[in-house]
Amino acid sequence: MKFFATCSKGTEGALRQELAALKLPAVRGGRGGVHFEGKLEHGAKACLHSRTAMRVLLELAAFPVSGAEDLYEAAHAIDWTPWLTEKTTLAVEATGLAPGVTHTGFAALKVKDGVVDQLREKLGARPDVDSRNPDVPIVLHLDGGQGTLSLDLAGEPLHKRGWRTTTSVAPLKETLAAAVLLLGRIDTGLPFVDPLCGSGTLAIEQALRARCIAPGLDRSFAFQRWTCYRDELQSRWDKLRGQARAAVLPSLPAPIFASDFHPKAIDACRRNAHLAGVAGDLVIEQANVRDLQPRGEAGTLCMNPPYGERLIAEEDGPEARSAARTQERKLVGFYRLLAELLERHDGWSAVLLSGNPLLQQALSRKAEIDHRLWNGPLEIHLLRYRL
Ligand SMILES: C[S@@+](CC[C@H](N)C(=O)[O-])C[C@H]1O[C@@H](n2cnc3c(N)ncnc32)[C@H](O)[C@@H]1O
Repeated sequence: MKFFATCSKGTEGALRQELAALKLPAVRGGRGGVHFEGKLEHGAKACLHSRTAMRVLLELAAFPVSGAEDLYEAAHAIDWTPWLTEKTTLAVEATGLAPGVTHTGFAALKVKDGVVDQLREKLGARPDVDSRNPDVPIVLHLDGGQGTLSLDLAGEPLHKRGWRTTTSVAPLKETLAAAVLLLGRIDTGLPFVDPLCGSGTLAIEQALRARCIAPGLDRSFAFQRWTCYRDELQSRWDKLRGQARAAVLPSLPAPIFASDFHPKAIDACRRNAHLAGVAGDLVIEQANVRDLQPRGEAGTLCMNPPYGERLIAEEDGPEARSAARTQERKLVGFYRLLAELLERHDGWSAVLLSGNPLLQQALSRKAEIDHRLWNGPLEIHLLRYRL
């Protein structure tokens, strides 16, 4: 079977590293994700263990597309009985465009028609559509004249781990935070400090990683509702989960500190850490970053400072220019404060996510890693400094 695990743009290297470490067969980097091959249990293993994948797709067919009828024909030609019965539900999500296919909703409808017509012919009845929580999520991807039909193993995107119910300003996606920890080469054996923790995403992901808690350990996935699950996969899945549970460390190898000056952020961080099962592992405090002192001889400062809303634009009128200048001055002052914080941490490392070039200017140091990532549509830089 051919799989494609998707991830945020710029984090493909972290995902490839993870899937290779899981010893999945034929791991190969791609655009916006990583390919691998194997049995259904290999796809399930990626859902259980990957911290950076957004989705794990099982490719069922790849075919040329020159019009909408090709979508119907391709869907109708696949044997859907290993995945669906007349009693399970499906949904089709379409992305991209192809010649003669200019509307994704229409493309999804053609695929759905092909699937249900084939099952009606084979089983004498057709399954229903459930667009909110389908048993079998089908994904159609169109790119130029090529179409791919896949099944989404997880259903709900993998970044929705279930623990982040409360957010504060500008939270990072869990999968992006996990990628930052991997790409920033953060050592789980040394103290970790996030002094701008917001809802705690970086610190919680670091705790889960350091205690080897698999992100999918307590989740249920769409593939568990597929026809072939009970026959082929259930016993393997139970075994994989049992092994993952046995690998969990009872405590952290090194302390993790999370602080923020905003009381609401601290509340959110505490609640999320509790739901993630790591509340006992984190030291969570309300504090201003200006007062932070080193917590030991060595460790990692890891943070996602505010980016500021925007820089001054040429088309701005005098009032907008003056407001943007005031905001920029404040931000530069704050970035200088962070530069002083780094000065105080001789012997440590710092991993920062920067969405504003003014931050790098204020730090005036050479980064040992400068990696481009995307936080949604926003281009940001992961910077690692040796202090
Ligand atoms: C971009 S947010 C961090 C979001 C976080 N990574 C998350 O995933 O939720 C920046 C945080 O810095 C905090 N902050 C700003 N100035 C601060 C200061 N002087 N001391 C401590 N925290 C501060 C804000 O309250 C905010 O929560």
